[in-house]
Amino acid sequence: MTGGGPLLEAADLNVWIEGSHILQGVTFTMPERGVTSLLGRNGVGKTTTVKALLGLVPRTGRVVFDGADITAEPTHAIVTRGIGYVPEERGIFSALTVAENLRIAERRPGPHRYDLIHELFPELDRRRAQPAGTLSGGQQQMLAIGRALLNDNRLLIVDEPTKGLAPRIVREVADAVARAAEEVPVLLVEQNLSLVRRVAGDAVVLDAGRVVHTGPAPALLDDADRVRELLGVARAAPAPAADTKGRSTA
Ligand SMILES: Nc1ncnc2c1ncn2[C@@H]1O[C@H](COP(=O)(O)OP(=O)(O)OP(=O)(O)O)[C@@H](O)[C@H]1O
Ligand SMILES: [Mg+2]
Repeated sequence: MTGGGPLLEAADLNVWIEGSHILQGVTFTMPERGVTSLLGRNGVGKTTTVKALLGLVPRTGRVVFDGADITAEPTHAIVTRGIGYVPEERGIFSALTVAENLRIAERRPGPHRYDLIHELFPELDRRRAQPAGTLSGGQQQMLAIGRALLNDNRLLIVDEPTKGLAPRIVREVADAVARAAEEVPVLLVEQNLSLVRRVAGDAVVLDAGRVVHTGPAPALLDDADRVRELLGVARAAPAPAADTKGRSTA
């Protein structure tokens, strides 16, 4: 246990891929509670950072989880310490049923938190005999998160869960992430800033393989100029029903 220290610490992570210096000294910490959002434009190194934490790509630097230096450990040992990973591609088996997808995710020893999954995602229970490939995109994302929640993890890492989903489904996934975060801290890679606002917490912003901002997510999202500068978008959340002509409504 960390005794109040950070849950996760990345220090000076460097990754080279095919001669390109992709991560250039990524350093940040994540607290023991809530959601930490890893933000940044396309291709800045968010997924590579996650893979570096998990030992899925060769890297230099240091990774500390729950007070233990895990830098030299193989990926299977790292995840066995209690890290659930929902990759960008979701990692579910299309030809297997919902129930089979969950069973195959069971890590030994248990416990396996089927009660929690049924409580958070009753839809998955109703569809337990359905092949996962026939689920909607949102349901597949719920299943992917459910697979990571099944084991008694200390940390969930979820990479862009809303990518390619319709706005209505994005809200459902946002609810799912927020509820999951009540159970276990979440490192959330996301570009959808309305989801980031929904789950609040801390923000870590990457640009060109470096951390360029850390701090509370709400304060960042309220600063439209900073959001535009760091993330290249005009605003942090859906605009209110504003008068676009700039007339005062006071
Ligand atoms: N296997 C690979 N081979 C070559 N280049 C790679 C590889 N993986 C990542 N890259 C490059 O590294 C950079 C960072 O990629 P990464 O996937 O980490 O970005 P990202 O922030 O997750 O992007 P996105 O928002 O599109 O998911 C990109 O320029 C990408 O092209
Ligand atoms: Mg990515």
